[in-house]
Amino acid sequence: MSYICPICKNTLALNAWGNAYRCENNHSFDLAKDGYVNLLPVQKKHSKDPGDTKEMIGARHEFLASGFYDQMAENLVETIQSTILDSQGKRILDLGCGEGFYSRQLKVGISDSEQIELHGLDIAKDAIILASKKQKDSKFVVASSNDLPFPDHYFDLVYRVYAPSNDSELFRVIKPSGHLLIVTPGPRHLWQLKEMIYEEAREHNSEGIEPTGFKQVKSLQKSYTIKPDQELRMSLLQMTPFAWQTTEKVKKEIYDKDNFEIEVDFIFSLYQKLS
Ligand SMILES: C[S@@+](CC[C@H](N)C(=O)[O-])C[C@H]1O[C@@H](n2cnc3c(N)ncnc32)[C@H](O)[C@@H]1O
Ligand SMILES: [Zn+2]
Repeated sequence: MSYICPICKNTLALNAWGNAYRCENNHSFDLAKDGYVNLLPVQKKHSKDPGDTKEMIGARHEFLASGFYDQMAENLVETIQSTILDSQGKRILDLGCGEGFYSRQLKVGISDSEQIELHGLDIAKDAIILASKKQKDSKFVVASSNDLPFPDHYFDLVYRVYAPSNDSELFRVIKPSGHLLIVTPGPRHLWQLKEMIYEEAREHNSEGIEPTGFKQVKSLQKSYTIKPDQELRMSLLQMTPFAWQTTEKVKKEIYDKDNFEIEVDFIFSLYQKLS
């Protein structure tokens, strides 16, 4: 596998000691003990710790480990499995992978998983540290979705779950006829939380915009209800942008509510690159 240098775009090669990637211009990036590489140079960072905060990453980790999104992860794995029917030597990227929940689910759930070269990328270093610690059979990199450190036409499939992307970078790194799977919130996602937080809750606009250079080949919606306990409701709040919009009073109401059932609603949009 080869990364490309985020500074000069030449190929990066692992050195003889296997502890750093270097390009022919001597730009060098250490391979951390946990197996991830940080390809986000300081000069390309817009803040000290870009991406999700440690608190959000911890909350998401705790919430996802509770199993409430397992059903959605199964739908994700099934969709990927049916898209890459022959899984011989396929390359997949989890874009904005966070703490790696869906990468782990994919490796466990997909058949012939040893044939899959799976990469996870996120701009938040703390998320990548956690993901790489938990999944040694995949490759994790700190980088921005606006500047992907991969060669042209590298991936058979890129997926992103609630994470940002850049159309021209997606077009560049996906093979001709390769696939892009985008998971976004459906109209009723976390509706009961929204009703408590906002004076006038609005449904998510779930209309997918076709990324330039791709055509939509499938769209499906999966909805169900969850009943997280009081602590997990707080984690759910903390891992979403609701965290900043919820007053202490409403947080307490959410915490105290009996038998609180919350709708989750996911839209899976599958696109194929036009070749
Ligand atoms: C809502 S979280 C979703 C994480 C993961 N996909 C999941 O569903 O568990 C969005 C993720 O996108 C990452 N992110 C934000 N901006 C990014 C960028 N420009 N490039 C790469 N990742 C980014 C955040 O750090 C965060 O981990
Ligand atoms: Zn370089």
